[in-house]
Amino acid sequence: MSLEELIESATELIVRSRHMIALTGAGVSAESGIPTFRGPNGLWRKFKPEELATPEAFRRNPRLVWEWYAWRIGLVLKATPNPAHYALAELEKLGILKCLITQNVDDLHERAGSRSVVHFHGEILFARCTSCGFRLKWSEPPSEIPPRCPKCGSLLRPDVVWFGEPIPEEALRRALHEASRADVILVVGTSGVVQPAGSIPYIVKEHGGTVIEVNVEESAITPVADVFLRGKAGEVLPKLVTAVKRKLGKRGKE
Ligand code: APR
Ligand code: ZN
Repeated sequence: MSLEELIESATELIVRSRHMIALTGAGVSAESGIPTFRGPNGLWRKFKPEELATPEAFRRNPRLVWEWYAWRIGLVLKATPNPAHYALAELEKLGILKCLITQNVDDLHERAGSRSVVHFHGEILFARCTSCGFRLKWSEPPSEIPPRCPKCGSLLRPDVVWFGEPIPEEALRRALHEASRADVILVVGTSGVVQPAGSIPYIVKEHGGTVIEVNVEESAITPVADVFLRGKAGEVLPKLVTAVKRKLGKRGKE
């Protein structure tokens, strides 16, 4: 089937959905200039996750970890949402997308207008104290490296989930609740290899739901995808929203 025909069948599923959710990964922010982790120019090609994104790495060398996060915070603050983020926000405004679960730690979904966002892996623009409950939001990258808590002087850490750490309880609860009641999940720009996020589409499938995937290449989710839309999120999602609005318009007239 051609991409247009696949978009048509995805549109049918979306318009008929009762409770549609989305799961996004780094691929949805790639066209905003934020590097993905895996694949040709992925961050894990240049850096080692065990040296930068684990509690042990932070204990061993907080300066190195914070130099890397300060660089990424700078990228996020400079980045702007791309058409994929706006398309997902539009689906929420149309009352179709009920919840957006993201593995991304950037704030581009919110800046594009999405309101119901679950940050499964935390948020890079926030930092929290390793000792007291202090938490702050960066408006520019930290100048002092590693940054310290202004209240108690202990080290601050990025408010993100590192490998080996648990998913924040509220985020996990909400995501599992949404996955158990969704009849359609739109999976965009994730390799699907990191758990437990990668299981979310499988939970929807087990509950009899339908999986629509948008990716430039196949992923660990593709085996359960009912419709696989091969292409860039920033190009495919706007086409999908246009087709959904057209079909809604027609339905409105029926
Ligand atoms: N449009 C759609 N998909 C894209 C695009 C694009 N423009 N560019 C890349 N992709 C796809 C890639 O083909 C890949 O499948 O996005 C996916 C990115 O995969 P990863 O880099 O593994 O990112 P993600 O799946 O979000 O990683 C999950 O791993 O390192 C941890 O915590 C980190 O949240 C991250 C988690
Ligand atoms: Zn403190």
